Amino acid sequence: MLSAPGAILLDACCGDGAASLPLVAAFPALSLVAVDHASKCLELVQRHEEWAEARCTAVEADVSTDAAARALRGVGAAACLLVFGLSAMRAARWPAALRACAAGLREGGAVFVRDFAVADDTMLRGRHTKLAAGEYARADGTLVTYLLRESLAAAAGEAGLTVAWSAYHCVLQKNRKTGVQQRKMFVMARLTKSCGSG
Ligand SMILES: C[S@@+](CC[C@H](N)C(=O)[O-])C[C@H]1O[C@@H](n2cnc3c(N)ncnc32)[C@H](O)[C@@H]1O
Repeated sequence: MLSAPGAILLDACCGDGAASLPLVAAFPALSLVAVDHASKCLELVQRHEEWAEARCTAVEADVSTDAAARALRGVGAAACLLVFGLSAMRAARWPAALRACAAGLREGGAVFVRDFAVADDTMLRGRHTKLAAGEYARADGTLVTYLLRESLAAAAGEAGLTVAWSAYHCVLQKNRKTGVQQRKMFVMARLTKSCGSG
């Protein structure tokens, strides 16, 4: 998929490129379109040592808008990463964000999601201020929305994407200093774009 000549990877909500730049380094013919709404993140990703100027493009856009879907249409990416992006926005914005991801895919391409799931210890231990079901404000004012496989599937359906595979992934993290153990819960999914969608 990523090693094919001319393959393009779309990274929606790229941040500093932690998810996509190792793939750019691993696949010498792969091109990257990295999208974020924060200019600071785009500056960071472009300064990263694995940013390959000739193969990488940075796009400043809010992926949860129709304008982003229009801007990404025709990119023709084989795959789109959406890693810890949906949790950074209200659940009501997920269908629009997934529509923009779908617009950037070629026919038969897929969106790969990894994100925080409901039942993550940080959510269960009530460290954040609850705004709505699954939606919380952190102490620093940033938003975190926890996913369920079902809520992701519903948003994907609204965006015209099909859930090819989804699963929960549980990781036990132990703080070396305090010895406190935390259960981190993630959702992972592969959402495919079929004929006529997006
Ligand atoms: C937690 S970071 C994840 C970054 C990266 N994907 C990773 O896994 O390291 C979330 C990123 O999503 C970006 N973001 C949040 N909402 C967005 C939106 N509506 N459109 C584009 N980017 C967004 C933020 O600026 C931030 O860089």
